[in-house]
Amino acid sequence: MSEPASGPGELPEGIPGRLMAAEIGEQPLVWRRLLTEGAEQVRTAAAAIAAHSPRFVLLLARGTSDRAALYGKYLVEIRHQLPAGLVSPSTMTAYGARPDLRDVLMIGVSQSGGSPDLVRAMQVAREQGALTVAVTNNPGSPLAAAAELGVDVLAGPERAVAATKSYSAQLLALYLLLEQARGGSVEAAHALPTLGAAVLRGQEQVAVAAERYRFAQRLVVTARGYSYPSAQEAALKLMETSYLSAQAFSGADLMHGPLAMLDREVPVIAIRSDGVGGRALDAVLPRLAETGADLFCVGSPEAVQRWGGIALPENVPEELAPVLEILPLQQLALHLALRRGGDPDSPRGLRKVTETL
Ligand code: F6R
Repeated sequence: MSEPASGPGELPEGIPGRLMAAEIGEQPLVWRRLLTEGAEQVRTAAAAIAAHSPRFVLLLARGTSDRAALYGKYLVEIRHQLPAGLVSPSTMTAYGARPDLRDVLMIGVSQSGGSPDLVRAMQVAREQGALTVAVTNNPGSPLAAAAELGVDVLAGPERAVAATKSYSAQLLALYLLLEQARGGSVEAAHALPTLGAAVLRGQEQVAVAAERYRFAQRLVVTARGYSYPSAQEAALKLMETSYLSAQAFSGADLMHGPLAMLDREVPVIAIRSDGVGGRALDAVLPRLAETGADLFCVGSPEAVQRWGGIALPENVPEELAPVLEILPLQQLALHLALRRGGDPDSPRGLRKVTETL
């Protein structure tokens, strides 16, 4: 197996970013574990979902896990052709709403499974008739206990405050769960660990890219389709580790107003995967370049050749690209934080488990 060579391993204590660097490097191994040891539990949950045949899917999450939930929403809407939505937990906690959730599948996504609002909303969903599934990195968590079905993403303990390996494991777990729930093949996912290891080896290129954002105060990340959650997650990682104002927009929404704020002072990262979403972004890229913004592409080698950036492996099904394309963006957040003098393992004001109501 080639994966271990890709990870930087854990650096000695006291070195800023050592945990985040190690956890970024571990991802191909995490995915392999989920694809092998984790396969049976995912199949069991998928079979229960198929038997229930839901008419609507709701996803419940916060922070980074909410980006994984958004990816799940794309999978449900496109692959299952069912309506899907992201829950606002406060409607069921603070506002006390009790919606009729019969025929609904509620999927909670959480690294820790520990935030009280997610746990309460999951309990309410179950009481209100939904089939409930917890996709967590902690099968012993209150969220897992609140749900009928569980999927352990098997990322192992995540110690850096900035979530990395748990995020890509959530994406992969959702892909495996939802594809199998519709009777689809997940064979293509088995290529991910090797591909991921190769992507991680491009770290030097990312470190060079980090240099260009060293003094940036604002930054925009954009993408379309399955890659839009990657844009959201990249922006979140950059905000929490490097303290810059990073906003994510779908390429379509960018055209509906925010484009006007772009100029040469606002760098733009465009995630241009291969496939429908990437092609939909193509019309936007020249408009971005016209603003004078420093444009940097992540994804399709063709787009990278034209606009500059970091090329990712070709011939990956579009719906699996998010698992790979987040890797250089996590590395970017790590390197940028270090260059700006921060410690991405413990961003100011944040804790590993955030308890919200
Ligand atoms: C960001 C991060 C947070 C968590 C969020 C949800 O890197 O780690 O945004 O994703 O606090 O936590 P969990 O997933 O434990 O419910």
